[in-house]
Amino acid sequence: MINIAIFASGTGTNFIALDQHIRENQMPIQIACLICDQPDAPVVKKAHELGIPVWTHRLKEFENKATYEQAILQELQKYDLELIVLAGYMKIITNVLLGAYPQAIVNIHPALLPSFPGRHGIEDAFEYGVKITGVTVHWIDGGIDTGPIIAQQAVPILADDDVDKLAQRIHRVEHDLYFDSLCQVLKQRKLIK
Ligand code: GRF
Repeated sequence: MINIAIFASGTGTNFIALDQHIRENQMPIQIACLICDQPDAPVVKKAHELGIPVWTHRLKEFENKATYEQAILQELQKYDLELIVLAGYMKIITNVLLGAYPQAIVNIHPALLPSFPGRHGIEDAFEYGVKITGVTVHWIDGGIDTGPIIAQQAVPILADDDVDKLAQRIHRVEHDLYFDSLCQVLKQRKLIK
């Protein structure tokens, strides 16, 4: 089995979509654990329902970001992880985890990077008035939504769109593109066919 860990902070629709794709396609991939910095987040409940181990603590329980990430690292080291998959994880990953997992941490962003990085990629693209936005899957390098791009998919902004309609279409694209991109990475590593 190829073990992956998912980091999330909120709703967890990408987490659920990944779990579903893995099951439906009978992939030799196991979501070994969920790491969540918001114990009350819906994603925690979803992981419990699926029987996926959860580590959930708030940053403020720790002295600083480094000790927080060291605690996460201790949890992650229980598993022989191939990838760390950020899916709506609202904290910057720092050197503790980046150093322990080089070339192993991926993120998904709801815009065509390097345009519209940050927390409000969908709203920012909509407000700017671009006609095409999209979704980016990329490696993590310690910046905010920077790092080499693995895959992108364009999503047009339609004349009668509002932010909610656009967000729905972006999320639908995310849910397939993330799984496809992870498979692409694992194929390149010759871990799956
Ligand atoms: C997604 O739009 C993702 O691109 C961004 O955070 C959002 C998470 O949504 N990084 P969900 O929690 O997976 O529903």
